[in-house]
Amino acid sequence: MPLLVGRRVLLIITGGIAAYKSLELIRRLREQGARVRCILTRGGEQFVTPLSVAALSEEKVFQDIFSLTDESEMGHIRLSREADLLVVAPASANVLARMAAGIADDLATTVLLATDKPVLVAPAMNVRMWEHPATRANMATLAARGVRRVGPAAGDLACGETGAGRMAEVADILAAIADMLAAKALLAGRRALVTSGPTHEPIDPVRFIANRSSGKQGHAIAAALARLGAEVTLVSGPVAIPDPPGVRTVRVESATDMLAACQAALPADVAVFAAAVADWRVAEPAAQKRKKQEGAPPPTLSLAPNPDILATVARLETGRPTLVVGFAAETENVLDNARAKRRRKGCDWIVANDVSTGTGTFGGDDNTVHLIGADEEEAWPPMTKEAVAERLAERIALRLEARR
Ligand code: C5P
Repeated sequence: MPLLVGRRVLLIITGGIAAYKSLELIRRLREQGARVRCILTRGGEQFVTPLSVAALSEEKVFQDIFSLTDESEMGHIRLSREADLLVVAPASANVLARMAAGIADDLATTVLLATDKPVLVAPAMNVRMWEHPATRANMATLAARGVRRVGPAAGDLACGETGAGRMAEVADILAAIADMLAAKALLAGRRALVTSGPTHEPIDPVRFIANRSSGKQGHAIAAALARLGAEVTLVSGPVAIPDPPGVRTVRVESATDMLAACQAALPADVAVFAAAVADWRVAEPAAQKRKKQEGAPPPTLSLAPNPDILATVARLETGRPTLVVGFAAETENVLDNARAKRRRKGCDWIVANDVSTGTGTFGGDDNTVHLIGADEEEAWPPMTKEAVAERLAERIALRLEARR
């Protein structure tokens, strides 16, 4: 069976001699059953004609945001909404720069800025442009935002020079597309709830109690679940990292707000609680800023317990997610404490990690975890938080599949 039946690819063809290979890409995508819609930029038009793109894709070609007919027939939002994946091939140095900067000055870059769909770029340019620090930095920015890249390949370039800059072969672009789309299917039609980051518990309008959680692990899990096709709501405390692509992010401050946002996001098939929720809040936060008073003793804060969001959701009698996953950040007796926590909270799995001083887990990029269930325990090797997220998302997909 063709690999991509019914999958919708929005192909953006920018300027570059490699644009002729994009015609072949359209043909191969069609052979695999994909529906292909194309945006041809002004640069792209210099290398391939709208007529050949339309003939191969069997769709109207979209060319210019300022063309009234294109905008009224199909706005840029709809172009993105009606696609499963955006592919920029060839991706010129110029389009990478505009994407990185968030510039939206034509139809292609406007769609790229407005989209919440996964994006793949196939760069093609002169080797010096590819190796220029500006292009490197732009590519790194895009990668950090979840944009995937295929190529460029090394070899003889159209400009007569040799080096990296040739657009990846059509077969490789096709493989990358298949990888991104096929992977999506595992959690298609599933709803996921993820909590992430710290909470801020107000003392008064300007002060709060917080913790060192960066949100990196929780955000990576939300992104990984979305890449597998789940409809993800991420409830995040205050963090300094960007919202993950393809995820509905709800930002909250306190534990009380986080619980309310989680309840509003239900029902869900899976809920992953990666937030570092404050155990206590200030019982009566002051309505006005507390003032220092000369000679007066420092104020005493009276604390009240916060709701346990994980336990609340795990113990729901109706509407409990099929799979509830908690985290246990421990500084000693990691496994024993995590096993006890799993039972106490009523969740299905606990992801346990050691956050004692020196492990660098809090705020760092790496994590070493154990996955603990009622009948299974796995020690995962040290890996990046992204890799932990990928692996956990795959485990979740397998478990939900087994219960379908
Ligand atoms: O009890 P402890 O804070 O160690 O439990 C950690 C787990 O419980 C994490 O999954 C965390 O997100 C969740 N939790 C919660 N609400 C709280 C406290 C913890 O959801 N108030």
